[in-house]
Amino acid sequence: MAAGVDDIAIYIPRLYLDATDFAEARGLDPVKLQKGLGVSQMSIVDSNQDPACLAANACLKIMQKNKLSPEDIGRLYVSTESAFDESKAMNSYVIGMLEQVYGQGAFEHCGGVETKFACVSGSYALYDNTNWIRAGEAEGKAALVVVSDIAKYDMGSSGEMTQGAGAVVMLLNDNPRLLAFDPKVTATSIKDEYDFYRPFGKETPIVHGQYSNLLYMIQVRKALEAYKKKVISSGLIKIEPGETILDHMDYIHMHLPYSNMGKKALAYLVRHEWRQLPRWKRILQEIGMEEPVPKDPRGTIESVLSDEEFMAKDHEFTKLFSKTPEYQEVYESKLASSLIASTMIGNLYTASLYLGFRSSLEFEYQKGINLDGKRVGFGSYGSGSSAMVFSGVIQPEYEQVVKDMNLEVEVGQRRKLTWDEYEKLHENKLRPDQSMVHSKKEFVLVEVNTEIETRGERRYIFNE
Ligand code: HMG
Repeated sequence: MAAGVDDIAIYIPRLYLDATDFAEARGLDPVKLQKGLGVSQMSIVDSNQDPACLAANACLKIMQKNKLSPEDIGRLYVSTESAFDESKAMNSYVIGMLEQVYGQGAFEHCGGVETKFACVSGSYALYDNTNWIRAGEAEGKAALVVVSDIAKYDMGSSGEMTQGAGAVVMLLNDNPRLLAFDPKVTATSIKDEYDFYRPFGKETPIVHGQYSNLLYMIQVRKALEAYKKKVISSGLIKIEPGETILDHMDYIHMHLPYSNMGKKALAYLVRHEWRQLPRWKRILQEIGMEEPVPKDPRGTIESVLSDEEFMAKDHEFTKLFSKTPEYQEVYESKLASSLIASTMIGNLYTASLYLGFRSSLEFEYQKGINLDGKRVGFGSYGSGSSAMVFSGVIQPEYEQVVKDMNLEVEVGQRRKLTWDEYEKLHENKLRPDQSMVHSKKEFVLVEVNTEIETRGERRYIFNE
């Protein structure tokens, strides 16, 4: 049975911080953000928004757009790493909000959990719900998988330039118009790591930035190796001599903590794949240098990162490799369109990969490309750490959905924050009733109880 993504909707907060203003305030070269990281704007949540609001707003959008009633939905999963409760799942909050519109008890028949594994958890949720449909358990109902996050880092930290906020929701069913997932090839890797984590009670993560960059690439590469084995053993794809698995993916979407991480990760994977092929000789000639090897090729991530000579040479090699026409062709045709939304919205943690997918659909369609039958590969990564590689095929009916996609319209009018406003929001100095914008037809947070008996209870309303 086919199963996959029928439609996709996004909700992005109405406030943003401009990369140039950020750079000026932090004494940085704005080009570092714009060109070095690929960050132009970062979405910031208002004082009356939390990740549950973002998720509920995205769900309402997709339901209204597809004229769905709660009876059409059998499962609602929320994936997030911005949870504000250690026990009550964010699903309950989202359902509570949706029932303000659809009536109390309207979603009572629904199942679902909140999933957590940093940025990769949404991919696990998609996989589980796809299998729920494939197993014939859905009884004609659809699943909503919503990935929602607020990427917030400590003031003055290196992560602060890679913030963002928003939610993406995907409607899954057994007759998907957008993308049917390839069966029996989803592959994972997992390792106990401390590249990025957020201990109980801390609002922002503890991050080892360069370590996390390298670990991300290694873990995705391992998952890609496992994917390759599954693809071959399941007979889904035949890899001919001189080819790599990446040749069989028309599009490759990567987890995007910032848009250039996608570029970096793709270059890493392509290098790894091409190294074994006859074409590599020609590439090395074009680059004009041998591929550098660390002093201790079997060493740890720490030993590689502290090998300064290797790191400098490898950096130079990657830059030259990224400029080769062969890599440029792969980058432009398979990845570039997925980075556009990330550049203007920023990091959405769990939702980043799927914002990239959404971005690619719209901008590739605008190029006039026929997307029917194109295979899309996904490289998902979550710190802590786990990676997942999987794929799907764009369906013949895709155009019905993609022709109306318009990122600018969907993001809507946004207000640029001043530095002072940003600081106040970052330090949680404003109450929900002091929000900066007053959006209509949206769920907003009204209060969080502080009384001992009811501490943490949240109240939301739908702003008419
Ligand atoms: P940094 O170390 O300050 O930046 O912070 P950098 O020195 O690496 O510079 C970044 C890029 O800008 C480099 O480009 C520089 O060359 C360039 P690259 O060499 O990589 O191509 N650059 C400039 N370009 C033009 N003009 C200039 C200039 N200066 C520098 N003047 C870092 C970067 C990512 C470490 C930091 O932002 C950070 O800690 N971010 C948070 C962690 C993170 O995003 N890690 C990504 C991988 S882990 C992951 O994705 C999981 C995550 O999503 C969490 C989860 O799973 O839940 C984060």
